[in-house]
Amino acid sequence: MVIRLISSLAVLCSCFWTSSWTAAMPDCKISHLDDKSFVECGKKGYAMLCDHLSLKQVPQAYPKPVNKTEFTPPLCLLDLGYNDFNRLENKSFVDVVNLNSTEILWLYLHFSNLSYIASDAFENLTQLLYLNLSGNNLHLSDSFGQGVFNPLVNLQFINLKKNHFETFEKIGSELSVLKALTVLEINLCEACVFGADFRMLTKLVKLGLAGRSENDCYKPVVRNETFLYVTGVQELFLSSCSINTIERNAFSYFTNLTLLDISYNQGLNFTGMNEALFGLRNSSTLKTLNVNRINPIYEAGITLELSHIENLKTLRSLTYLHMDLNKIEVFDENILNPYQLPSTLRDFTLSGNRLTYGNYTRFIQNANGIKSLDISRQHLNFDPFKHEHYGVEMSAYLRNLRLYRNSSILATMNNDCPLLCDISLPSSLEKIKWRKSFLNVEIKTPIRICASGLKYLDVSFNLITNLNEIVCGLDNLTYLDISENYCSEIQPAFFKKLTSLNFLNISENMLGQSLHPDNSQRGDKLFKGQQNLTVLDLSSNKITHLSKDIFKPLTNLRHLNLSDNMIEEWNSSLENILCLHDINLSGNKLYGLPESLTNYLNSLLDKDCCKNKSTCVEVNLSSNPIECTCKTLPFLKWMRYSRVVVLFLPNDVCRLNGENYRFDSNENLEHLISILVNDKCRDRSWVIWTVSIACVAVTFIVSVGISFFVYRNRWKLRYIYYSRNRRYRHEGFERLFENDAFVSYAKNSASFIKNQMVPVLEKQHQLHLWVADRNSLPGTSIAENIIHGIYNSRKSVLLINREYLNDNWCDYEMNMAHIESVETKRNLLIVVLMEEIPMQKLPICLLKFLRNERSIEYPEDDRDMSAFWLNLAHEINSS
Ligand SMILES: *[C@@H]1O[C@H](CO)[C@@H](O)[C@H](O)[C@H]1NC(C)=O
Ligand SMILES: *[C@@H]1O[C@H](CO)[C@@H](O)[C@H](O)[C@H]1NC(C)=O
Ligand SMILES: *[C@@H]1O[C@H](CO)[C@@H](O)[C@H](O)[C@H]1NC(C)=O
Ligand SMILES: *[C@@H]1O[C@H](CO)[C@@H](O)[C@H](O)[C@H]1NC(C)=O
Ligand SMILES: *[C@@H]1O[C@H](CO)[C@@H](O)[C@H](O)[C@H]1NC(C)=O
Ligand SMILES: *[C@@H]1O[C@H](CO)[C@@H](O)[C@H](O)[C@H]1NC(C)=O
Ligand SMILES: *[C@@H]1O[C@H](CO)[C@@H](O)[C@H](O)[C@H]1NC(C)=O
Ligand SMILES: *[C@@H]1O[C@H](CO)[C@@H](O)[C@H](O)[C@H]1NC(C)=O
Ligand SMILES: *[C@@H]1O[C@H](CO)[C@@H](O)[C@H](O)[C@H]1NC(C)=O
Ligand SMILES: *[C@@H]1O[C@H](CO)[C@@H](O)[C@H](O)[C@H]1NC(C)=O
Repeated sequence: MVIRLISSLAVLCSCFWTSSWTAAMPDCKISHLDDKSFVECGKKGYAMLCDHLSLKQVPQAYPKPVNKTEFTPPLCLLDLGYNDFNRLENKSFVDVVNLNSTEILWLYLHFSNLSYIASDAFENLTQLLYLNLSGNNLHLSDSFGQGVFNPLVNLQFINLKKNHFETFEKIGSELSVLKALTVLEINLCEACVFGADFRMLTKLVKLGLAGRSENDCYKPVVRNETFLYVTGVQELFLSSCSINTIERNAFSYFTNLTLLDISYNQGLNFTGMNEALFGLRNSSTLKTLNVNRINPIYEAGITLELSHIENLKTLRSLTYLHMDLNKIEVFDENILNPYQLPSTLRDFTLSGNRLTYGNYTRFIQNANGIKSLDISRQHLNFDPFKHEHYGVEMSAYLRNLRLYRNSSILATMNNDCPLLCDISLPSSLEKIKWRKSFLNVEIKTPIRICASGLKYLDVSFNLITNLNEIVCGLDNLTYLDISENYCSEIQPAFFKKLTSLNFLNISENMLGQSLHPDNSQRGDKLFKGQQNLTVLDLSSNKITHLSKDIFKPLTNLRHLNLSDNMIEEWNSSLENILCLHDINLSGNKLYGLPESLTNYLNSLLDKDCCKNKSTCVEVNLSSNPIECTCKTLPFLKWMRYSRVVVLFLPNDVCRLNGENYRFDSNENLEHLISILVNDKCRDRSWVIWTVSIACVAVTFIVSVGISFFVYRNRWKLRYIYYSRNRRYRHEGFERLFENDAFVSYAKNSASFIKNQMVPVLEKQHQLHLWVADRNSLPGTSIAENIIHGIYNSRKSVLLINREYLNDNWCDYEMNMAHIESVETKRNLLIVVLMEEIPMQKLPICLLKFLRNERSIEYPEDDRDMSAFWLNLAHEINSS
């Protein structure tokens, strides 16, 4: 009362004391409404944001927008979240200055420490649609005054999550007056039951009960009667609720259920899923079923048995089935022969399982009806989703881990186009995602994939290391992604039958050598027949040269990406491409563009496809060593005066007379051109002659000297290189690690470790190493020791020699360290090549490390040893 009195007085005085009054008002911000999310406010309306202000009382006055054209009334959304109200008193929104309570549609009161809401607190909020009360302390039975929700006759959405109710009895009788309610969000507790009061909520269609973090939702047993009085619900979210059991009849009262999500209940398992679905047998409404991660995380591989889907297979409208992260290794072949899943199923995801080859694969083509299949991330050794959800402790998880084995799923045949199918897929299948699965394949012999409907195939992030032979049967494929496959060979044969391709991504491979013009003219024929290709991505392929005619067949190409290669000189012809829209050449080694290319790009501007467009053709040349010399003057002039858009980064510069010149604006370019034209590029042939002769002599002497210097000091130079590359500093993690480095080595390196590495790094460089022979705890398994070592060390040093590559434990350590590095997003691997090993002898995963991690070579010459140790010590110390 006192407060209301003061504020009424304040209103009276406000005309006289405007400035002091403004100071007393809460520091709320006025903001625009995103009219997509708040359509009900109409095109006008504004939001009042009073969140995170540590307010003790609900404000009795709000600021008024100064500019009424920018913020047109009404005040439609009021955010009072993240304050410290404790109690919400009667008439909190009645007679408030600059607030018409009947106009508010959205009200946020989340995380505001509320433990009591008085009976008349919401008086006059008659139009309210949305109320968020999550994250408060409303768990006691006396947290609500009687009839608290009575005024909210239009409320459609209420969020009561994270309030830790111990029963729904009291809240149920209060909620029962909300006749318009369609969405209820609340967390389930052990004794929570939707009792008879909930029968009054006749419009309730969506029940969100899922937990967001651990123990939000705790309902080990979902009982027959749990949902007895909410039978009209259409969407039920029960994920992350620690459910072990769902009784047979629990879902049987739902007559209109279309979506059921029981994911992330690891105690449930497939047997439990089958029990749960008993109540929905023969349902003709259920369309979407989410059963991701419902098996214990420690479980080894699982077979999906026919008995697990006994009830699922009766669902008559099931269209979307998500069964990710369930450790499924094989299917019982009886599920596919004959096909037992609902014939309505269109979209099936099985990502993050452990699918391997088995008898069931012979019957995959029976799965007719399925249009889209996601079998990505079939990792055996780490769970790529762990960070997308609160997970179990990593060490416990790792104990159950197995190393992945290469599995060649693709069979092989000899003839040109094999008559028989190597892989048969249902003809309904249009889209397959099979990314990140360590799929290890070499296409060395022709294969036939029978998949007449397949249009989209994504096999990126695998180990498809060569593409040398014909792939038959994919005549209708339009989208193909084979990026990041460590693929080093490609032959024209591969594309011969892939004639409908529209989108092709083969970036991040190692095709530079294979595309080199010297390489038996392969490049010229590679894209023969690809008239329909519009997007071609060849970025990050270590390309140095491309043959002249490689792009000739691609008459319909629109987007060409060649970024992050090593192209020094542009030789290829693009003349046949009728309507190129953009070409990305960033991150190459181009000093400029040749006239043939700039002329071609200019010519595009006159084509039909560029009609009526202000910008049409785009070239990205950022991060190239562009030269500003007389030689590139025509190119610089072209950049300035052509209508082709040339993109640079703000820090792209060229050097002239020892100064940096930028060319990211017309003024800068003009300035640069004028310097060149007026000064540098006058004819001075006599000077050039004398100077060049002198130069040649000097260069010769200097370069001999430099090479000698470079060779002698290459370790020091590398050290300088490394220290320059050291971008990140350590961010306060030091105390977490017992050791500076975990050292992984082959048995034959033991004496080197003991006699050289340990003394030098520990004594001279004061580092603390974890060395298996010395630090292993007796009585624990080797695997546990390794994991302990890796966890407790800031870095992992891998000393690679031939024996290392043959040793299984080393393989294990390498993979573990890699996982830890990926998981924790730490840069922790340091690879030391102890001897020269030919590239082809190195396993692919190690090649991956060499590309992504820091690697150091062990010096041949003893004199370089101290630089080597210094270098290694700095690497270990770096972050
Ligand atoms: C008010 O906002 C409108 C639209 O944003 C703007 O055009 C106008 O100049 C503003 N008027 C004042 C007085 O700031
Ligand atoms: C709120 O109002 C109701 C009746 O309208 C009254 O019974 C109750 O005592 C009031 N609560 C407080 C805290 O003033
Ligand atoms: C509050 O808004 C409603 C609906 O827009 C309107 O009918 C009513 O007159 C307004 N009340 C005041 C005091 O402005
Ligand atoms: C607010 O509610 C009271 C009591 O329910 C009512 O008398 C009054 O007219 C309402 N005020 C507005 C602006 O709707
Ligand atoms: C289920 O949907 C039908 C048709 O929309 C409706 O008539 C029926 O009342 C709904 N059942 C329940 C329990 O809400
Ligand atoms: C739940 O319902 C099923 C099927 O009617 C019944 O077999 C089971 O005993 C019930 N469970 C309990 C705890 O009553
Ligand atoms: C599933 O869980 C139940 C109860 O926890 C257990 O009895 C059963 O053996 C489990 N089934 C499988 C296939 O693991
Ligand atoms: C696979 O099929 C073969 C031959 O049909 C059979 O002998 C074998 O037992 C099957 N394997 C499994 C795991 O079912
Ligand atoms: C491609 O699709 C068409 C029509 O969808 C179909 O008739 C044809 O058989 C398919 N091609 C192949 C090789 O399956
Ligand atoms: C290329 O695309 C056009 C139009 O989409 C289509 O008619 C034609 O058959 C395609 N060509 C090939 C070789 O698939």
